[in-house]
Amino acid sequence: MTGVICGTGACVPDRILDNNEIAQFVDTSDQWIQERTGVIRRRIAQTETTASMAAEAGRQALEEAGIRPEEIDMILAATATPDHIFPCAACEIQERLQAVNAVCFDLNAACSGFLFAYQTAQAYITSGMYRTILVVGSESLSRIVNWEDRGTCILFGDGSGAAVLRAKEGRNWIPAAHSDGKGGPALLCPGPNVSGNGGNLPGSDSAEDSGLERTGITMDGKAVFQFAVRKVPEVIREVLDANGLSADDIDWFILHQANRRIVESVAKRLKTDIERFPMNLQEYGNTSSASIPILLNEMNRKGLLKKGQKLVMAGFGAGLSWGAAVLEWGI
Ligand code: UT7
Repeated sequence: MTGVICGTGACVPDRILDNNEIAQFVDTSDQWIQERTGVIRRRIAQTETTASMAAEAGRQALEEAGIRPEEIDMILAATATPDHIFPCAACEIQERLQAVNAVCFDLNAACSGFLFAYQTAQAYITSGMYRTILVVGSESLSRIVNWEDRGTCILFGDGSGAAVLRAKEGRNWIPAAHSDGKGGPALLCPGPNVSGNGGNLPGSDSAEDSGLERTGITMDGKAVFQFAVRKVPEVIREVLDANGLSADDIDWFILHQANRRIVESVAKRLKTDIERFPMNLQEYGNTSSASIPILLNEMNRKGLLKKGQKLVMAGFGAGLSWGAAVLEWGI
């Protein structure tokens, strides 16, 4: 028994923010951003929320799969930007979809989130515990971006993508995934204040400056870049070897959409034709956990994915974390 994707969906905010508009509030240019990243524009959530976009993406995925909301056993939401600390985004998505029989929780592995959630869903399905799982990646990164930091604010965008997996007879592909907490400071967004010894009790020092720190995302861009171009080809080779495949057996490599130069470098290191590495980061920027399912949905809806084709999905990002999965397209 394996989980086969039988429907996909995506939802991005209406508001488009292009590079020229960013150049009006930080010292940058359209040319610099395009040359260094490939990004031209991104979407910014205004009325949309992490859960509202995810629910719409999920609705589309269910519609394509012909699955009723009450048939879903589990909703797994990969997000680093839930609308609330609790309840989790997955519960809000459940309510919006009326997926009344689903157990719901969130998973935060930053830009590896969708990949890890997909692997988690596979584990539940192959164990026989659940049959039908909605996996979403959804982010409102614009709410945690430091819009004064030109090194990071140019990269990110908001959006959501979803895939519904159903238990079917088929091959169980061996996954690959890794984490390295030592690399945490390279890409970080502070949460509620954790400094000080007072635990934020009334009267303690830390209570004075309690509340969410508003530094937003901080990043050592070069370190993250070097990590990605080294570890992503490595983990793709690992997952191919584990499954007795070579890069030539793979029709599409669906990579987390962080930077065009990272994708190009991975293709080169794998000695694989760049045509098999689709990209849409020029339209959406880096949407973290949403980037893989948004791209998957785009490819699916354009009819580029054919039943029986083999895909590799690879995610990487804060943690540090990285992983890859092989799948056979089943729609
Ligand atoms: O999901 C994972 C998320 N993170 C990533 O994927 C990030 C990976 N890293 C990157 O994509 C790249 O490191 C960046 C695109 C962030 C930066 O590109 P870079 O080629 O590594 O540039 P850099 O940081 O080495 O900066 C080169 C120069 C610096 O100026 P000096 O010191 O040479 O005078 C920066 O201050 O470019 C400057 N710079 C900018 N200039 C114009 C940095 N950001 C900008 C900017 N516009 N937005």
